[in-house]
Amino acid sequence: MKLENVKAVITGAGSGLGEGTARYLSERGAELLLIDLNEEGLKKVANDLGANYFVGDVSNEIEMTKAVKDFEGVNCLVNCAGIAVGAKVVSSRGMHSLNLFEKVLNVNLIGSFNMLRLCADKMQSNDPDHEGEKGVIINTASVAAYDGQIGQAAYSASKGGIVGMTLPIARELAAHGIRVNTIAPGLFSTPMLSGMSEEVQKSLIATTIFPKRLGTSLEYAMLVESILTNVLLNGETIRLDGSVRLAPR
Ligand SMILES: NC(=O)c1ccc[n+]([C@@H]2O[C@H](COP(=O)([O-])OP(=O)(O)OC[C@H]3O[C@@H](n4cnc5c(N)ncnc54)[C@H](O)[C@@H]3O)[C@@H](O)[C@H]2O)c1
Repeated sequence: MKLENVKAVITGAGSGLGEGTARYLSERGAELLLIDLNEEGLKKVANDLGANYFVGDVSNEIEMTKAVKDFEGVNCLVNCAGIAVGAKVVSSRGMHSLNLFEKVLNVNLIGSFNMLRLCADKMQSNDPDHEGEKGVIINTASVAAYDGQIGQAAYSASKGGIVGMTLPIARELAAHGIRVNTIAPGLFSTPMLSGMSEEVQKSLIATTIFPKRLGTSLEYAMLVESILTNVLLNGETIRLDGSVRLAPR
């Protein structure tokens, strides 16, 4: 798929990796519908780019049905909305709250699936290109899907779910000319990570092999571009991580 033909829904577009992807694709001629819960961040990005936007929760069926309803011809979804929390299963502060576990699964996993099904439903009506392609879906997992740290039970479970659903959905949607891939980022310089203490950030960077620094939203967006433009990439989860392997803590 050529970038100038891309008509993309990007979630989590008010910040971080979603924002970086929105700016990257917009500069290259894509038409965008940007979605985020954070109205302030979202409006700023949408106004800068002259893009359509919708303030809402990706895990909310009614809101998201409304969000994509009039975005006819959508041929790309980049799922970036997500939350990260840290909590131990049992600790001196008590047990892991079940509500918290559910919330993380709801936003990260169910929210991604909600967007995916709503967009795939529309994509199947697109005219196929010369390869028979009608759409491309890109999810965002995390290396925590594979090497989650202590305190990441909910986050890792949510991201593992995204990795797990990638192949079966790619297999199913192939019949409609829709590819499905997932990016599993390592450590990226976004508000999500800068919320952690400097000490935690340093110890995380120390486990990166090369380059020994945080990734940027530009590097994430460049992989989105590769997935969009390389029709052979399908049903795969790609680690983008400088070969980091997260330590237990
Ligand atoms: N930054 C990293 O190091 C890193 C590493 C691995 C994976 N990830 C994943 O990448 C994605 C983007 O993260 P980021 O670093 O850009 O974080 P971020 O916090 O900068 O951006 C996430 C955005 O998602 C939005 N969001 C949260 N819940 C939402 C909901 N229910 N509905 C709609 N929007 C919602 C937030 O408002 C925010 O604007 C997330 O899924 C995250 O888990 C990030």
